[in-house]
Amino acid sequence: MTAHQPIGVFDSGLGGLTVLREIRRLLPHENLLYVADSGHAPYGDKPMAAIEARSLAITEFLLDHGAKAIVIACNTATGAAARLLRTRYPVPLVAMEPAVKPAVERTRSGVVGVLATRQTLASHNFSVLLDRVGRGVEVLRQPCPGLVERVEAGDLDGERTRALLAQYLEPLLARGADMLVLGCTHYPYLTPLIQELAGPTVQVLDSGAAVARQVQRRLGEAGLLAPADRVGEELFWTSGNPADMHGLMTRLWESDVVLHRLGTESAPRATRPAGDLVLESV
Ligand code: DGL
Repeated sequence: MTAHQPIGVFDSGLGGLTVLREIRRLLPHENLLYVADSGHAPYGDKPMAAIEARSLAITEFLLDHGAKAIVIACNTATGAAARLLRTRYPVPLVAMEPAVKPAVERTRSGVVGVLATRQTLASHNFSVLLDRVGRGVEVLRQPCPGLVERVEAGDLDGERTRALLAQYLEPLLARGADMLVLGCTHYPYLTPLIQELAGPTVQVLDSGAAVARQVQRRLGEAGLLAPADRVGEELFWTSGNPADMHGLMTRLWESDVVLHRLGTESAPRATRPAGDLVLESV
């Protein structure tokens, strides 16, 4: 393993780009590999075993492409597979944790709302997190089926997204929540709309920046931070149709993306072990 190798990041789809953005901000010298499993999104209503299988396959793919560390930029995959991936692969692995801790510390009303997928809210990880940091505060769990699909469709502020969000926020606001935790990496794309619907007295929190700091810490400890004399690059794969996804991905990443199809013979390979993002066909 060398510091020159890239960091592998994945999500069920486009949501993990909100985490990738924070990693890019903090670690400008790192090469980044990103897999959007949009062909299998959403994960949130799938059985845990199916999410675990996808997470294993994608992690293998990223390691095979030279990843020196893995970031599970998906709360749902974290709940389903983080423990297994940690035991199976001896690389630094960073996973998501909804920002319940800062929300509990900051709430004035004593009521915190958590928006996430059904599977995240039902996960063992989430129960452990609540036991650890949720005491003394009312933590309301709000599953949000359908929201990931709105983001995957590029509908960040249309009528359907607005109606879904209004429906999910209503019970939390009615109970007096003054902190809204985004427990799904797709939702930060909806922050402006959530803030508009919830009003200025409510704070909206996500954990992308904290995860980026954790990546920096773990790589630093392992002596794997990229040398400061290069500009990092990104490579993207999708299990959806790259031609369909390219426009939306470019819009969300705010820069033209190099996007490849995941899981075909023509998938490009990053050369190893240097980790420079030179592509070769396999
Ligand atoms: N971005 C994923 C998460 O953080 C979305 C899960 C899904 O695909 O339902 O949970």
